[in-house]
Amino acid sequence: MIIVLPPDALVLLVGPSGAGKSTFAGRHFAPTEVLSSDAMRALVADDPMDQAATDAAFELLHTALALRLSLRRLAVVDATNVEGWARATLLAIARRARRPAHAIVFDLPLELCLRRNLERDQPRPAAAIRRQHRWLRESLPRLAEERLDGVWMLATEEDVEAARISRTAPALGP
Ligand code: GTP
Ligand code: MG
Repeated sequence: MIIVLPPDALVLLVGPSGAGKSTFAGRHFAPTEVLSSDAMRALVADDPMDQAATDAAFELLHTALALRLSLRRLAVVDATNVEGWARATLLAIARRARRPAHAIVFDLPLELCLRRNLERDQPRPAAAIRRQHRWLRESLPRLAEERLDGVWMLATEEDVEAARISRTAPALGP
């Protein structure tokens, strides 16, 4: 699949921990285009896994997102984004900046996410991944109502492997 993105869009990566969001972001986007909750935790608290830093990390992420969009820069948000309220906050920032919003959804089998998680240096709690996967599945029918400009579904490892990104020409106007 060719994922077609405007060059000034918000791009939400959506998927449970272990789905491969950061790996995908590293493969397809420049490091400066990616706003990751883990990197923001590290920036404010020296530790990408420090859950106590989550509120501060997202405050920083939201500020960086608004500024990038105001400067017409692509902004890829690398967080799980499986909760409707988390997506709503990010979509509101895109709307305020009058920029398009797309989602790339990692709708992969739970077993794959759990298996990859176990192979990581610092595995996340399996219960968190199960919960995030359930929230993702519950989110799928609702994504259509969230007024996104594009929803790109990756349902298998092969879909993820075959995905390519194409950027459209910049839009005119403020
Ligand atoms: P969180 O940051 O915890 O939300 O997870 P994430 O969605 O960013 O997952 P990440 O990209 O860190 O990938 C999790 C594990 O799966 C890592 O060990 C990756 O190396 C592995 N992985 C990710 N994508 C792929 C893939 O396409 N193929 C294979 N074989 N492994 C992958
Ligand atoms: Mg990640």
